[in-house]
Amino acid sequence: MKKKATALAHPNIAFIKYWGNQNQELRIPQNGSLSMNLSGLEARTTVHFDSDLHADQFTLNDEPMDGAGLARVTKMLDRVRRLAGINQYASVSSQNNFPTGSGIASSAAAFAALALAASTAAGLTLSEKETSILARTGSGSASRSVPGGFVEWQAGSDHESSYAFSIAPPEHWDLVDLVAVVSQEHKATGSTAGHTLADTSPFQSARVQDAPRRIDICRTALLEKDFDAFAEIVELDSNMMHAVMQTSSPRLNYWRPATLAIMHAVQELRRGGIPVCYTIDAGPNVHVLCPKEFSDEVSEQLINISGVIKILAASPGGPAKLIPEGGN
Ligand code: DP6
Repeated sequence: MKKKATALAHPNIAFIKYWGNQNQELRIPQNGSLSMNLSGLEARTTVHFDSDLHADQFTLNDEPMDGAGLARVTKMLDRVRRLAGINQYASVSSQNNFPTGSGIASSAAAFAALALAASTAAGLTLSEKETSILARTGSGSASRSVPGGFVEWQAGSDHESSYAFSIAPPEHWDLVDLVAVVSQEHKATGSTAGHTLADTSPFQSARVQDAPRRIDICRTALLEKDFDAFAEIVELDSNMMHAVMQTSSPRLNYWRPATLAIMHAVQELRRGGIPVCYTIDAGPNVHVLCPKEFSDEVSEQLINISGVIKILAASPGGPAKLIPEGGN
């Protein structure tokens, strides 16, 4: 049996956010979420189960990793070894083509690619749903980087019922995500730690309770390509997550002055008739969304805002996929 496989996956940007888990260990979220995969940005991961190894090895962008990074990879490999009934250690090598600290979560692409490469290398043939479930255990948002295009992650209530599926292919809507980078520093509190604080905010239960309504509105807006309805619900959802973050204990405030300046500029542009909206993850950088035909105009406005370092652009991306050996 060939025990080596390579897979590629894109990161994703959530329009309706995941924040807080029902089950932290399995990453079963408190609410469902909706996202778009980001084309052009990718993680490529090769997994090789090898009986000559005495421990798992992990290199990220050619740097050997240990500590928490390696432990998180080993945890997923253990799950795959259990499923496949094998006991060899593996070498894992992963490359991201997008910068860390760019405001684009690398864990989603990384664990989607790892789930697909590791399960295939172990001889398993998992369905898309099973791969999404496996990816979720490594990083919740990774479940959404397995299917292609526009994706919904249904929260579910247990390991088997919490997975993501595509609601529309990438070519459905030519939206662009313009990431306005205002800081490239490593954030003080990452998402994994952040999720555990969500319930300390009195706003979290209201946010979670209202999530099915926001998902319905966002899904319909996406399917009907109704940008105005989309913009309203995406900004509301982002603001609700940040209200939870800013009222948890300890408080998480990811915004910088430039973050707020971009939020205001985006709303000003929208009032001026340009279809554009913002959404912000667990960091200070702002994801600015608009139809492709407006992306040059919006980029020009964003780059002139004081504190904006650079803009990265991405369009809707496809599913996680295997790369044949020697292929690309
Ligand atoms: C704010 O999926 O990065 O980006 O499961 O601990 O890896 P872990 O968390 P992660 O959380 C993502 C949080 C978010 C919102 C989102 O992408 O839905």
